[in-house]
Amino acid sequence: MLPQGNATFLLLLSMVFLSWRVCHGGKILIVPLEGSHWVNMDIMIKALHSQGHSVDVVRTNQSWYIQDGFPHYKTITVPVSEAFNHDFINPILIKIFDIERGESSFLSFASLQLEMFSAMFNMHRIMCKMATKMFTDKDLMNSLKESKYDLVLTDPAWGAGIMLAHALKVPLVYNVRWTTSGEGHLALAPSPLSYIPMTGSGLTDKMTFIQRVKNLIFYAIWQFQDGFLISPQYQAVCDKFFGPEVRYRNLLQGADLWLMRADFVFEFPRPTMPNVVYIGGFQCKPAKPLPEHLEEFVQSSGEHGVIIMSLGTFVSELPADITNKVAATFAQLPQKVIWRHKGDRPATLGNNTLIVDWMPQNDLLGHPKIKLFVAHGGTNGVQEAIYHGVPVVGLPVFFDQYDNLLRLKQRGAAQILALATVDKNNNFLKAIQEVLNEPSYRFNMQRLSTLHRDQPIKPLDNALFWIEFVMRHKGAAHLKAVSYRLPWYIYHSVDVVLSFLTTVAVIIILHLVFFRSVCLGKCSIRKTNGK
Ligand SMILES: *[C@@H]1O[C@H](CO)[C@@H](O)[C@H](O)[C@H]1NC(C)=O
Ligand SMILES: *[C@@H]1O[C@H](CO)[C@@H](O)[C@H](O)[C@H]1NC(C)=O
Repeated sequence: MLPQGNATFLLLLSMVFLSWRVCHGGKILIVPLEGSHWVNMDIMIKALHSQGHSVDVVRTNQSWYIQDGFPHYKTITVPVSEAFNHDFINPILIKIFDIERGESSFLSFASLQLEMFSAMFNMHRIMCKMATKMFTDKDLMNSLKESKYDLVLTDPAWGAGIMLAHALKVPLVYNVRWTTSGEGHLALAPSPLSYIPMTGSGLTDKMTFIQRVKNLIFYAIWQFQDGFLISPQYQAVCDKFFGPEVRYRNLLQGADLWLMRADFVFEFPRPTMPNVVYIGGFQCKPAKPLPEHLEEFVQSSGEHGVIIMSLGTFVSELPADITNKVAATFAQLPQKVIWRHKGDRPATLGNNTLIVDWMPQNDLLGHPKIKLFVAHGGTNGVQEAIYHGVPVVGLPVFFDQYDNLLRLKQRGAAQILALATVDKNNNFLKAIQEVLNEPSYRFNMQRLSTLHRDQPIKPLDNALFWIEFVMRHKGAAHLKAVSYRLPWYIYHSVDVVLSFLTTVAVIIILHLVFFRSVCLGKCSIRKTNGK
């Protein structure tokens, strides 16, 4: 039995620990994005919850993915009359297929670009309406203010969370790969176009002259989209609620901390900033055992192993001729195949192929029998493939997918094929056999995996540390470069160079005038003398 004094001491000690824990349980407001972005934000929320933080999530009443009634977060629902419908992708998909099949001209490329612009414009228009709805709802804003959040964590590919953090005057942290104006770094760090390929350009960090011209054109397209279609919409909301002196661009660039969903195993090396923390692959984890029926199927593949295929959350329906060709190709292989596919069952489906609605992708990728991942190239899937060291055959469709896959191909770990051309010349079969039979693909991917895993701290733990860091210090102002407050002519020292050039010019002109007048004087003297 403990002496009385010791017991009191222990009691005190445990009270200190308890209160320490309570003090360190912060309040976090999350303004997430839908779709695959929500999938990994949810993983971060679970981790925050398990650290004892309380998390509220802002969503609309027409949310696709963000559900109510989970223990790890509470929802704050904003009723909106209009929501972004992910069917918008289908007409775009049809245009992309036409272009990839070479059945169309420059005109259809232009019309695709217009369609993309209009989709982007609409998405942000709907976001701005949601933000307006939020800011005009006095009760909602008051209750958010009274909640005294320690920080706002948002995905800045949509701008509502950025403005909300400003309205509530709390520190802002990003879970970011994209901002409303393009790839995350572009809004923050110096990004020379000579070796930083723009998204969508399909270029790497080594560019010829012509490729650099192409890169510049893509940069101009991104700038156009941001400058005319996206930023003005958010600026209008800022004007209305915060006054015109608050610039949306400054709010976007002024976040305290950028948790970047990339790392330099995946991304090409580039300049960065002190408040950027790389958490690429934070959602990856060691594989758990498979459900029994899947394990049985995987084991039945014998020495040949298994191929898995998934085209992500967006592409649910493909044209029947493509799915038939994919199924027919799989049927020719000795491997077993697990294919995540919605829609009609292809007529050509072989008996080695299992079609599923959903699959435990991470657990499958970590299974030693998996030989190949047929993927669309979304960031999550590509990073899971890197983490588990499984080589990839990529069937990219849009957004950053081609560029993500290119980063693997460049390192000899993937083959890329246009989805619309899988039916031409057995392209698809050749690509699969190449990656399966040539050991360098697997070797290169495993090397990426080793590099990615060789870090002093796991990416998710790093993210948690830095989120708590911002809460402890009420921001991270000391890490923010002042660059984002500077107008462009100061940022590039244009004013200094101009004033220097002007000074030199004035001195030269003064000299010229002086010598000219001296010379004129002499000449005229000579002239009078000669007369
Ligand atoms: C969401 O809220 C709006 C506005 O109150 C309402 O018109 C709409 O029917 C609601 N939608 C859903 C799916 O609840
Ligand atoms: C699967 O199909 C192949 C050829 O199409 C056939 O040889 C084989 O017996 C079939 N296997 C099963 C288990 O039905």
